[in-house]
Amino acid sequence: MDRRSVGIVMNGVTGRMGYRQHLVRSILAIREQGGLTLADGTVVWPEPVLVGRNAAKLEQLAEQHGLTRYTTDLAAALADESNEIYFDAQVTTARVAALRQAIAAGKHIYTEKPTAETLEEAVALANEAKAAGIKHGVVADKLYLPGLLKLRRLVESGFFGRILSVRVEFGYWVFEGDWQAAQRPSWNYRTEDGGGIILDMFPHWRYVLDHVIAPVRSVYAQAATHIPQRWDERGQAYPATADDAAYAVLELEGGIIASVNSSWTTRVDRTELVTFHVDGTEGSAVAGLRNCRVQHRASTPKPVWNPDLPVSHDFRDQWTEVPENDVYDNGFKRQWEEYLAHVVADAPYGHDLYAGARGVQLAELGLQSAREGRKILVGDL
Ligand SMILES: NC(=O)c1ccc[n+]([C@@H]2O[C@H](COP(=O)([O-])OP(=O)(O)OC[C@H]3O[C@@H](n4cnc5c(N)ncnc54)[C@H](O)[C@@H]3O)[C@@H](O)[C@H]2O)c1
Repeated sequence: MDRRSVGIVMNGVTGRMGYRQHLVRSILAIREQGGLTLADGTVVWPEPVLVGRNAAKLEQLAEQHGLTRYTTDLAAALADESNEIYFDAQVTTARVAALRQAIAAGKHIYTEKPTAETLEEAVALANEAKAAGIKHGVVADKLYLPGLLKLRRLVESGFFGRILSVRVEFGYWVFEGDWQAAQRPSWNYRTEDGGGIILDMFPHWRYVLDHVIAPVRSVYAQAATHIPQRWDERGQAYPATADDAAYAVLELEGGIIASVNSSWTTRVDRTELVTFHVDGTEGSAVAGLRNCRVQHRASTPKPVWNPDLPVSHDFRDQWTEVPENDVYDNGFKRQWEEYLAHVVADAPYGHDLYAGARGVQLAELGLQSAREGRKILVGDL
C-alpha cells in the first residue's frame, strides 16, 4: 500500500470555519480514518501546517490536536516543497493577496468563498491559477448537505414535472452583542472589512441554484441594514455598515422564479435555519439542511379559503419525509476528499476558481441591483 503525504498550508485555522469545519471535521477526521484511500489503493495522508497571525494560538491549537507544524510566516510555509496545497479560510479581505502569493509559489489552491470581493479580482485570480497550471478548488459545502442531496435526487428523478418556483428562506437572529454575545464575528457587519450578508450568502445561492435547480439568469435585490449599531468581540459599540438582510428575486433558466430571503435579523419559525421550497406541476418539496419533505400532485389536499372558519388542516402533516437511502458524511470533509483526489490522482473536481467567480458575480450584481433599484441580467463569464 503506497502512502502519499501531502503538505497543506492551512491559513485562518483559528477562525470559526477554518478550525471547526476544515481542520477538525475534515483534515483531522481524514487522518483519524487512516487517510484517504484512492481507487488505485494509494492512501493520501494530509500533513497540515497551521498558519496564522498569532503564534501562541497556533501553538495551543497544534498541541491540542497532536500536530507539530505551525508558523506565522506564510512565505516560509509556501517555500517548503513538501507543502503542495495552500488552503485559505481567512477573513474575506485577506484572501486575494494570500491566494496570489500561493499561486506565485506554484501551490495548488483550495479556498473558502467568496474568492474575492469583486468579480474583476475573482476572474483575475482564476486566470492566474489557470496560467500557472495549478489545481484550484472552492468550497461549495451546501451541495453536500443531506437535505440538498435529497432535493437534487428529486429533481433528477423528474418528481417535480415542470419546476415553477423556488423559495429560499435563510436566516436567524444574530445577537447585537450588547446584552448577549454575538454568535458571528463583528467583521461580518462592516462593509469596509468584507462583511455583508449578500457577499456572504449569494455565492452559496449561486452554486446551489445553478447545480440543483437551473442556471441563474437575473437578479433583483433589496438590501437592508436593519440593525445600525452592534457590539464587537471586546464589547465596543460600532456602526454596522453592511447589509444584514437581503430580499431578492432571481430568474432561472426555463422561467423558474426564485425568491431568496437572507437575514441575520429574523427569528426562526421554520423547521431548519435554511429551507428551500420548490413547487412543480407534479409535486412540491421543502428541503432543509438535513431533511426533505414532499407532497405529490396526487396527494395534494384542497384547502378552501374561508376566514370565517378555523383552520381545519394541519398543513405540515400533509407532507412525506424523503428517506435517507444513503450515508451522509460531513460535507466539508467530502469536498476535501474530492479535492485531494483531484490533486493527487487527477480525479474530476467541479468547483474551481471560475465557479467561485460566478458566486462573486451574483453577489456583486445583487449589491448593484440593491443600489440602483433595478433587475440586472447575470451574463455568462
Ligand atoms: N462555507 C461556509 O459555509 C462559510 C461559513 C462562514 C464563513 N465562511 C467564509 O470563511 C471565511 C472565514 O469566516 P469565519 O466566519 O471563520 O471568520 P472568523 O473571523 O471566525 O475567522 C477569520 C480567520 O481569519 C484570520 N485573519 C486573517 N487576517 C485577519 C484580519 N486582518 N482580521 C481578522 N482576522 C484575520 C483570523 O485570525 C481567523 O483565523 C470568510 O471568508 C467567510 O466568508 C464560509
